Amino acid sequence: MDKLLLKSGPRLTGEIAISGAKNAALPILCAALLSPEPLRLTNVPRLNDIATMQRLLRDMGVAIAADGADVTLDGNDLSNPVASYERVKTMRAAILVLGPLLARCGEARVSLPGGCAIGARPVDQHIKGLQAMGAEITVEQGYIHAKASRLKGARICTDMVTVTGTENLMMAACLADGETIIENAAREPEVVDLANCLVSMGARISGAGTDVIRIHGVARLHGATHSVMPDRIETGTYLCAAAITGGDVRLRKTSAAYLDAVIDKLMDAGCDITIERDAIRLKAPPRLKAVSLRTAPYPAFPTDMQAQFMAINCVAEGVATIRETIFENRFMHVNELMRLGANIQIEGSNAIVRGVERLEGATVMATDLRASASLIIAGLVAEGETLIDRIYHLDRGYERIEEKLAQLGAEVRRVS
Ligand code: EPZ
Repeated sequence: MDKLLLKSGPRLTGEIAISGAKNAALPILCAALLSPEPLRLTNVPRLNDIATMQRLLRDMGVAIAADGADVTLDGNDLSNPVASYERVKTMRAAILVLGPLLARCGEARVSLPGGCAIGARPVDQHIKGLQAMGAEITVEQGYIHAKASRLKGARICTDMVTVTGTENLMMAACLADGETIIENAAREPEVVDLANCLVSMGARISGAGTDVIRIHGVARLHGATHSVMPDRIETGTYLCAAAITGGDVRLRKTSAAYLDAVIDKLMDAGCDITIERDAIRLKAPPRLKAVSLRTAPYPAFPTDMQAQFMAINCVAEGVATIRETIFENRFMHVNELMRLGANIQIEGSNAIVRGVERLEGATVMATDLRASASLIIAGLVAEGETLIDRIYHLDRGYERIEEKLAQLGAEVRRVS
């Protein structure tokens, strides 16, 4: 099992390129199920989750040709509308095939995604919405069995904001008979990127990016070409890595447009940020100021940046309160950060972080994707060496992370 060895080193400086967004690419790959014609994608990140999704789609009969960040998918011959437990248990986002399979094939058998480290992660809203569109759905032996001769447009209001729930229902509605209105829809930029891709395939969608999305079903979608948006969470992660080291970095092939909440907090922490058309530059002070935050659906502070910001608060000046409102168990990184000497108290969904002068390197364990990133950020400044175990979590969501960190001057290497 690979580990990552970090040595506290110089401040991060220099420039790297940001990859395509994992959480946009995953639903967009599933959109290929909606059309018999090829979908040509560019700027697809090379990540384990992306490879897993491609294997799942190939199992269903989608022909896929991948050349680096360029991926062409041909959904002409869908022979097997099934997502097996083996595939789904390693990647919950496999639930995103449910809506498209129902819309295109009239049936689907998808394993219920298990929970994961950060929470139970139910999919009741996905099922409720598809049932409102006329699908007959039963859950037996851990599988979702769904049938619908043709989905009908419906008005759906989800009980809470759900990103993949919104994406599943939006994709299903593209081929439904009539108009579907999704209220309380997720406004995340990745939902908008998916909608833009679907519209380029001939879907009729309005309101993506707001909390009411309208989709007029059409008989068929055609092929298209789409470039995946940059990864705002990867961008935020490297901004935090630079900030904790007092660094000066420039991130290319990305946009600040979707990171207002994160950039505001980094500026509150004392960073100087310059925004260019397709790049962001951050210059950090020798020591950051502690910054409190509360996670919430877009455009508020993203839950996927909570762990990374906790890491920079560990050595900032002052006390910060971090409130996690999206997932019930997204503080798995706290105990690991405390092994490095952090001073954190958890009180319900609040974590009180008291900045310390310095952290001490130690062996720590990654528990989930973004928790792994927070351990790397802390390990960049922890005195001595930090060894991070179970970094397969990292490889799910960060492309060539040790290479990009090394480009910025970090002393990091992968050890088995
Ligand atoms: C997406 O997960 C992202 N994953 C997550 O990123 C992200 O943390 C999350 O949205 C929130 O922004 C992808 O896009 C592939 P939700 P998703 O449905 O869609 C509850 C990462 O690190 N809920 O918006 O699964 C749920 O339990 C990952 O890249 C229900 O109760 O999240 C949670 O408390 C981690 N029933 C809340 O809603 C449902 O049917 C928001 O979940 C659906 C959700």
